[in-house]
Amino acid sequence: MKFFIDTANLDQISEAQQLGVLDGVTTNPSLMAKEGITGKENILKHYVAICNIVDGDVSAEVVSTDFANMVKEGEELAKLHEQIVVKVPMIKDGVKALKYFSDKGIRTNCTLVFSPGQALLAAKAGATYVSPFLGRLDDISTDGLNLIAEIRLIYDNYGFETQILAASIRHTMHVIDCAKIGADVMTGPLSSIDGLLKHPLTDIGLEKFLSDYRKGNS
Ligand code: E4P
Repeated sequence: MKFFIDTANLDQISEAQQLGVLDGVTTNPSLMAKEGITGKENILKHYVAICNIVDGDVSAEVVSTDFANMVKEGEELAKLHEQIVVKVPMIKDGVKALKYFSDKGIRTNCTLVFSPGQALLAAKAGATYVSPFLGRLDDISTDGLNLIAEIRLIYDNYGFETQILAASIRHTMHVIDCAKIGADVMTGPLSSIDGLLKHPLTDIGLEKFLSDYRKGNS
């Protein structure tokens, strides 16, 4: 399972990278705005800054909603850095853009996916990644994990190579549950990765080992 971090915060990206388990970064316009990154030039520079920190794919989202402008924007983003993956929303023109980019060898992440039908369409259009939004479904009392399982089944039935990128991860149990289902990638906040580390018996055990060592070596 690949681990992506879902943020545009350079400090958090560096911290995750230094842990040695990071495979990429996802961003979206809301995450960029949260970091105060505004204006086209600053946004493009920020994507390059992220690529320079992380070894792996960096999703950069188009903000156009019509085919021609999505293509123009996506091609510009893809030229920024070889690690850039163009993030395209699951709308009709987005599907056309996914197919266009796929034919051109430009890697894509189809975002805002909330149903198995949308995921099937993204795979047919040649998306590199499909992003089902687990947490946002859970937020409205719908089983987000079930969506990931349904997409896994459909992709395995037909051997689609599109990778399932479990997005909108909110906490560590989402990561574990997605790993059990067989999501190819998860993207979440740094806290969802850090949480994997924690177990009280590890802390208690380590304290005992160290105190026994100190007793015999003081
Ligand atoms: C990732 O690609 C998505 O943009 C992101 O995971 C959305 O997460 P949220 O539902 O926490 O905003």
